Amino acid sequence: MKEWTLEERYRVLNDPSEISELFERIKKSVYRQKYHIQPVTGLSSDPNGFVYHDGKWHLFYQWTPWGAVHGLKYWYHVTSEDLVHWKNAGIGLRPDSFYDNKGNHSGSAISVDGQLYFFYTGNHRDENWVRTPYTCAAKLDETGKLTKLPEPLFGPRDDYSEHQRDPKVVYNEAKDRYYILIGAQTLDERGTVLIYSSKDLLEGWSFEGQLNVPGYESFGGMWECPYIVNISGKDVLIFSPQYTTLPGRSESTNHNVYLIGHMDYDTLTFTPENDYQFLDFGFDFYAAQGAANVGDPNKAILIAWIGLPDNHYPTEPEEWEGSMTIPRELRVVDGRLIQTPVEGVTDLRESEIPAENKLPEYGELEATFTGGDTRLALFTGADGSGGFVINYDSAKKEAVIDKRGMSKRYNESVGEVLSVPIPDGLRKLQIFIDRSSVEIFINNGEATFTSHVYPTVEEHGYTIDNYNSLKLWNYKASVNDDFVV
Ligand code: FRU
Repeated sequence: MKEWTLEERYRVLNDPSEISELFERIKKSVYRQKYHIQPVTGLSSDPNGFVYHDGKWHLFYQWTPWGAVHGLKYWYHVTSEDLVHWKNAGIGLRPDSFYDNKGNHSGSAISVDGQLYFFYTGNHRDENWVRTPYTCAAKLDETGKLTKLPEPLFGPRDDYSEHQRDPKVVYNEAKDRYYILIGAQTLDERGTVLIYSSKDLLEGWSFEGQLNVPGYESFGGMWECPYIVNISGKDVLIFSPQYTTLPGRSESTNHNVYLIGHMDYDTLTFTPENDYQFLDFGFDFYAAQGAANVGDPNKAILIAWIGLPDNHYPTEPEEWEGSMTIPRELRVVDGRLIQTPVEGVTDLRESEIPAENKLPEYGELEATFTGGDTRLALFTGADGSGGFVINYDSAKKEAVIDKRGMSKRYNESVGEVLSVPIPDGLRKLQIFIDRSSVEIFINNGEATFTSHVYPTVEEHGYTIDNYNSLKLWNYKASVNDDFVV
């Protein structure tokens, strides 16, 4: 693995020509995705600034241009009219001011009265590498570029640690105020959320206090990317707790969870109705962000990073890694989230593949089951050996997913086997395969499992037992891999 110096990781990109050759090389990778957003070069991590505005969806991702390494972060901009076909739009935010001299860290957007506003963390570091995170704002101008406000909205509080970031802006109708949620860490290293409010978006922000979540006072060491959304009258708190292991997640210390309950902005209390649940049960899913201005009180639209902060992936030597999930629709049903891929995705079905034990290079597999024990192995060798194996145990009502059979192994120390509870029994799997990812939707969205996967050319077989129906499709590509910087 390449060792990066601080200078290399934090090198400023002055001109697109500095990475054009890198792009040409990366573009040839057999693992370049065909219908998922991925970095032009380097690393893409958290989704940022996800919003519907003026007939278009805007999304940004945390971007280090130089390679598969966390370093100087830019916001890279992509747009879509349907959440399925995406175009590269170039750099949205660049770290070119005092306040964000070491990166434009994560944040969100909101569209109000025809204007598009962005909120992000300016990651400032001084010459001794001491960090000061500022909450900054920007606006979309008439030319489609983001213009930053010259001064931050507010700086960090000194009664919390340096980990204060990821502003998520929400509007509360009852209070007729805007709120910014900041992912934070207390001085004794417990994860939490800080809440600020204002009548106006670009001024007047004041600190309201720390979010109380009864029962979650000591749950992980930092809550990254917090988000509260109301779906069908229920409040949902989504966040990424880190620096802790959680039961069922093997050795990983980075997670993405949600709570369903009630948010009271007067007492700053989120009262959960039941225990936390995993947003996704897979190996690689983090920093999920909901879109603003969805315009439907009964659903949210969410996208996440296929990757985890401390993980490394096999494309690292090719100087790129990371991808976004397919955007998902979230609904609240019987005390849990039901997640389904956004509708237009299945319009990418190009041709049905005969069920001859060969997976599409990028496409979809849909299977229904009898309810009994079953085993589905994806990406096996031609003889059915190895692969990424899903073993469903009908007595335990649980699927165990095991990637140890793949020839490319990575992140072994965080665990290569995870299980998914399926309390209502396995009826259906809808599986989205791209060239380096797999997303499994169980029983029409009762649970999901997202993972990177790096099959070799020999690993495109599959085997399946005890099923009712099986269909496979090749997909059309829907994300342009163009060099726009
Ligand atoms: C989550 C995160 C955020 C931060 C960003 C920096 O993956 O650590 O908390 O803003 O990434 O890239």
